[in-house]
Amino acid sequence: MPEAYDRHLVPVFFRPFAADLAARAAALRPRTVLELAAGTGALTSALLTAAPTASVVASDLNEAMVAAGSALEPRASWQQADAQDLPFEDGRFDLVVCQFGVMFFPDRPAAYAQVRRVLAPRGRFLFNSWGPLATHGFAAAFQDALEETLPGRAPAFLGDVPHGYTDPALVASDLAAAGLTLGSADEVTLDGVAASAGSVATGFLTGTPVGATLEAWDDAQSIRASVTQKMTDRLGTGPVTAAMTATVYTAHDQE
Ligand SMILES: C[S@@+](CC[C@H](N)C(=O)[O-])C[C@H]1O[C@@H](n2cnc3c(N)ncnc32)[C@H](O)[C@@H]1O
Repeated sequence: MPEAYDRHLVPVFFRPFAADLAARAAALRPRTVLELAAGTGALTSALLTAAPTASVVASDLNEAMVAAGSALEPRASWQQADAQDLPFEDGRFDLVVCQFGVMFFPDRPAAYAQVRRVLAPRGRFLFNSWGPLATHGFAAAFQDALEETLPGRAPAFLGDVPHGYTDPALVASDLAAAGLTLGSADEVTLDGVAASAGSVATGFLTGTPVGATLEAWDDAQSIRASVTQKMTDRLGTGPVTAAMTATVYTAHDQE
């Protein structure tokens, strides 16, 4: 999954937002940074380019992501870590960053309490989360193709998880439950540019849990072919550009 994720999804979805988040992080002039849910290192690399003197620890729950990320971005120090149970001492980092990871944490107040614990006094937490499914041109087209192919049995993962934590009021309340104060919530819309709709369909079908779910079904191969064709019907053949919306949050200790 990390290889397919990095090849098909990172350049289109994650690199544009990594540049945005890295510029915001560099403006804070951090010396010690912890990245949560770093995946294959899209933000890690952008961050080390924007803030080359920062010491960056990149972490992820998934060992395979850590292995792929550490090979792709060796300037960071990589470590396997569950955001809800961080293996770092209190007050070690002046910035904690997380790109499109918080939606996956089953207990977000617990993860935010860990962020608060490892932040130094006056430290900052900077992270982003996708907007609703309809505000992501590629994910919406993929989900439509999936539902047309699998009426009544299409996996709801994309809407429920990556695009299911979209309300800034809920984010503020989860942060407050952990003793953090929401500083800002900025809606950001950027363009994703893909070589073809088919390559993005392949990314969703091989680099996300949707693909893993379908893999177990008897008719997986024909489902994949149908979804790829229907997504191409929607977005056209050849290179495709689509708008993607996220919210970028900052938070700090209540004290
Ligand atoms: C959509 S990917 C984002 C990866 C990366 N930040 C990027 O921008 O490409 C979500 C990542 O969250 C990680 N993740 C899921 N649950 C986690 C947890 N409880 N603690 C840490 N990482 C987690 C996954 O392993 C995955 O790499």
